[in-house]
Amino acid sequence: MFLSIIKLLLFSLLIILFVSLSYETRFTVNKSFIIDKTNNQFLKDGQPFRYIAGHIEYFKVPAVLWRDRLTKYKMAGLNAIQIYVEWNSHEPEEGMYHFDGDNDLIGFLKLANELDLLVLVRTGPFIDAERDMGGLPYWLLSKNPNMKLRTSDPSYLVEVDKWYDRLLPMLIPMLYKNGGPVIMVQIENEYGSYFACDFNYLKHLRDLHYKYLGSDVLFYTTDGGEDYYLKCGKIDNVFATVDFGSERDVNESFAAQRSHQPYGPYVNSEYYTGWIDHWEETHSTVTSAAICKGLDQMLALNASVTLYPMHGGTSFGFTAGSNIHKNRFYPLITSYDFDAPLTESGDPTAKYYDVRNVIGKYLTLPVGTLPKPEPKMQTKPLLMKSTANIYDAIETLVPIESVYPKTFESLRLRQGFILYSTTVTNHTSDPAVLTVNGLRDRAQVFVDKKYAGTLSRTQSLYTLGLDIEFGSQLDIFVENQGRPDYGIEIHESKGITENVTLGSVVLKNWKHYLLFTDWQQYITNFITTLSTSLLSETNYTSVDRIPTFFTTEFVLPNDSTLPLDSFLRLDGWRKGLAFLNGFNLGRYWTVGPQLTLYAPRHLFNAYPMTNTLIVFELERSAPNMTVQFVATSVLNATIPFTSEHQLLL
Ligand SMILES: *[C@@H]1O[C@H](CO)[C@@H](O)[C@H](O)[C@H]1NC(C)=O
Ligand SMILES: *[C@@H]1O[C@H](CO)[C@@H](O)[C@H](O)[C@H]1NC(C)=O
Ligand SMILES: *[C@@H]1O[C@H](CO)[C@@H](O)[C@H](O)[C@H]1NC(C)=O
Repeated sequence: MFLSIIKLLLFSLLIILFVSLSYETRFTVNKSFIIDKTNNQFLKDGQPFRYIAGHIEYFKVPAVLWRDRLTKYKMAGLNAIQIYVEWNSHEPEEGMYHFDGDNDLIGFLKLANELDLLVLVRTGPFIDAERDMGGLPYWLLSKNPNMKLRTSDPSYLVEVDKWYDRLLPMLIPMLYKNGGPVIMVQIENEYGSYFACDFNYLKHLRDLHYKYLGSDVLFYTTDGGEDYYLKCGKIDNVFATVDFGSERDVNESFAAQRSHQPYGPYVNSEYYTGWIDHWEETHSTVTSAAICKGLDQMLALNASVTLYPMHGGTSFGFTAGSNIHKNRFYPLITSYDFDAPLTESGDPTAKYYDVRNVIGKYLTLPVGTLPKPEPKMQTKPLLMKSTANIYDAIETLVPIESVYPKTFESLRLRQGFILYSTTVTNHTSDPAVLTVNGLRDRAQVFVDKKYAGTLSRTQSLYTLGLDIEFGSQLDIFVENQGRPDYGIEIHESKGITENVTLGSVVLKNWKHYLLFTDWQQYITNFITTLSTSLLSETNYTSVDRIPTFFTTEFVLPNDSTLPLDSFLRLDGWRKGLAFLNGFNLGRYWTVGPQLTLYAPRHLFNAYPMTNTLIVFELERSAPNMTVQFVATSVLNATIPFTSEHQLLL
């Protein structure tokens, strides 16, 4: 008896020893991701390796959809993803950090790891991505309006250092060498396209990454596939890659990479699967045949390639940026569908299956069910009731006063609108010419609370003849249509940046009403007051073109398959924002090409709960206006006039 207990104990000990030993060997296997300089290839754990990645921006996709989208990446045969980290999303106001919910970067990386997708992380700090200020936080310019962004200007670097002190330590456990999915980390972004060409800045960023992540990590840069871009983008001891679309010659682009990067595999870090859209420009598309041909050519050269993007997502809320081309201003649409293989709502297109077939020639495709387009839902037309307009909304706001107009940045206003208000204290000509040369970006002008006209940066329209007199109240309601995401213009301020004149007189003593420092709070309060019926329903249809909040409540049918994804159509409306149950679906503008706003299913309340839709319409008010959630998105509406350029990034 006694002996058998000893035997049992010994046996158990042996088992424990065996289990812990195999545990040890399992976790001491070297995890390495390096470049084999002799054979111009990547080595993953010592074995030749090539990635075919899909770019995805977790901040353009609600977190509840991350698994769905990444699973579809996986099923396309991709073995990696590439992401940007957006400083502005994680630190929208100075010192206020967001790393949860839709900003849960680490949760996203863990999910990729769970799905066995490797990750290339681009830490910025500038990312472009067609986002407000290219992903930089606007408050940098509040702190120092003369800050030289993306350079070694100490006032900029001190902020970058603080941000990286927060971000980079979080990435350490996510690195491949530490058991995480991150095989490569990109420094800056297309820096060779920026005017500054400041190598001290690039080296500073590189050394910060070395310090936090270790110099044994594979760091890379990405620049356009031409000598012109690479010469200010390449950093010593950092692997240089290129980016280009299907219209470019593959061999020439890789030859440009090779001339600046003497060893290592060919890499296209942004192979464009489509292209971006601006308001009032024709919808961009790139054929599947063109995408597949270029992809096949690159993969035949053993290149590693990132499809930019596999799924674009949405620039919800105020997050879309703008571009400036030949002095003209082009705000970006809300959708980031991009004509990518997976649509804005995550549906596979013919391009998805075609791309998958090309990938299948080079990598083993996973077994499993291929994704199919998901059904969408349509509601009845919803009658919208006009409620508060901006003059009601500002009653609760305390204006900021100053002699001359102030900018969004100097007022620490991230996004939205400012109502600039003053009283005319001089005698005027008839008509009097109002000039707002520093307008960024669009303004509705009101004289004694009556609409008098619209000024527009997209149309380079900065003057307006006014019927206005001594003692009149002049209000200029200015919309920030998104900060530039590219070029030297990322530095610009929003609002009114120069003096405003009436005839030859400079107007002074302005009141600034900020709409709003906290939109989420405003909309939440709005919904609360609605449900307690405190807000009286007023009829503003006689008051033309005063920005007004419209609202409706609706209940979905009693059907267990609902809610489904849907698209908000705003025919007959003009320009504004829409909030579904408090969530900002983004900007709409019926000039096109985008006519519908994507409304993912998780934003709806199922039967029998009530849904609240708020539309903040800037320009239209008519009786009995309706909206409708429909089953088909429209991103390619005809544009009333021809586009005159194709922006090349
Ligand atoms: C594992 O990595 C260590 C340190 O880099 C190295 O000394 C060792 O030779 C590696 N072992 C294997 C099996 O590759
Ligand atoms: C590109 O290079 C490959 C291999 O070097 C060659 O086979 C191919 O013909 C070249 N393609 C073009 C378009 O020059
Ligand atoms: C691609 O890699 C394979 C395997 O290492 C090699 O045999 C082939 O020559 C390479 N092709 C090119 C174009 O470099």
